[in-house]
Amino acid sequence: MTKIIKYYRFKKVVSLCLIYNCMSREISGFSKLSKDEKIDWLDAHVLTESLDFKKILHQYWNANPELQSLHDDFVENTISNFYLPYAVAPNFVINDKKYVIPMAIEESSVVAAASMVAKFWSKRGGFKATVISTTKIGQVHFMYAGDKAAIETYFNQIKPQLLEATSGITKNMQKRGGGILDIELRDKTASLENYYQLHVSFETKESMGANFINSCLEQIANSFRKEGVKIVMSILSNYTPDCLVRAEVSCPVSDLYKEDALHYAQKFVEAVKIAQVEPYRAVTHNKGIMNGVDAVVIATGNDFRAIEAGVHAYASRKGQYQSLSDAEIKDDIFRFWIELPLAVGTVGGLTGLHPLAKISLALLKNPSAKELMEIMAAAGLAQNFAALRALTTNGIQHGHMKMHFTNMLNSLKTSPSEKAALRDKFKDKTITYAALNDAVIQLREHKSIS
Ligand code: MEV
Repeated sequence: MTKIIKYYRFKKVVSLCLIYNCMSREISGFSKLSKDEKIDWLDAHVLTESLDFKKILHQYWNANPELQSLHDDFVENTISNFYLPYAVAPNFVINDKKYVIPMAIEESSVVAAASMVAKFWSKRGGFKATVISTTKIGQVHFMYAGDKAAIETYFNQIKPQLLEATSGITKNMQKRGGGILDIELRDKTASLENYYQLHVSFETKESMGANFINSCLEQIANSFRKEGVKIVMSILSNYTPDCLVRAEVSCPVSDLYKEDALHYAQKFVEAVKIAQVEPYRAVTHNKGIMNGVDAVVIATGNDFRAIEAGVHAYASRKGQYQSLSDAEIKDDIFRFWIELPLAVGTVGGLTGLHPLAKISLALLKNPSAKELMEIMAAAGLAQNFAALRALTTNGIQHGHMKMHFTNMLNSLKTSPSEKAALRDKFKDKTITYAALNDAVIQLREHKSIS
């Protein structure tokens, strides 16, 4: 029986290969192949290098078939899993509550920096965070060439029906205190001829709400249809300037550095001000913030692309890309804060589906969506603090390369004894890849290093 199945699978792969060869560019029916068949096909038709392709892909399959199948079903054409380190940063104090923050990230210094900064601020009152607003937006975009007053009249008449039409979708959300907040007709014809929109605001409570918002919008669009109105599309917006959170730390300047505290505190504030006026710097500055934010977003099963898009749009809201954080020294007190939009959820989507996302939320003691916004903002501010402190004192490379050292040792395929010897050699030295490579060569040639 298994032989027969194998024969038919082989035939299927061969026939797909034929389709592929004939058309020479495209393949049809790829998604219908089994995982192994897809891998065989890729091995035969796409890979040109000799890699342990199949072996490596299989190594990353989960031994538990049920768990693997859950991951396979997240997207189409899954052939393996792509791991990220899943780590925790302890000692965060946010609004007087202690947290161990889960982080999924590959960059070597991020978790270490978060842990170090969390501990530092835990002894100085911790992070204070507040959610400013939680409104999300969705839009029905349409074209209308007729009289503006007529479409306004039509909208005002039909608005109660638009709300009524979504009642089946909004019923449960309303029970939780959410739902549609308002629907506005917006005239966008000054930007694009005949362009209008229904601009809809939502409260989605514990969920990020993408599916809820999109379902409501499609229903609203259907009910709004009429002669002369051409619905172009209905979709939520990932620009969420009214789903905003703020986090802050502060302490006496003298408590900030062991030596020359005022000098370094001023340099720190200057570094932030530079990121407010210089976009080249602001992008890197904010990237450092997102190292912390994204790591928590991913660990909790939230949508990091949505968060990234929304945050960077917010950073540009004044017409120039700027820092998301700010700092000041006033009356000998150093204050450092951040304000950013974070449309995240603690229910729905991957949060309830990915076993590690559930673990992350459990580690955070099952926060509300608002509390999760505060945690993420604190993680971002912590990361920004670590980066600016390093940049305005010893520079970033010292700590960065120290953390990256293990990765470099692994990429040079060093043995445990070589690792020990190299760690010892570089313990007080600035590490560069070239210097490490030379030391490895020397070690292997002479079996010792000077
Ligand atoms: C590196 O991932 C992040 C930093 O470049 C951020 C910054 O420069 O502020 C260190």
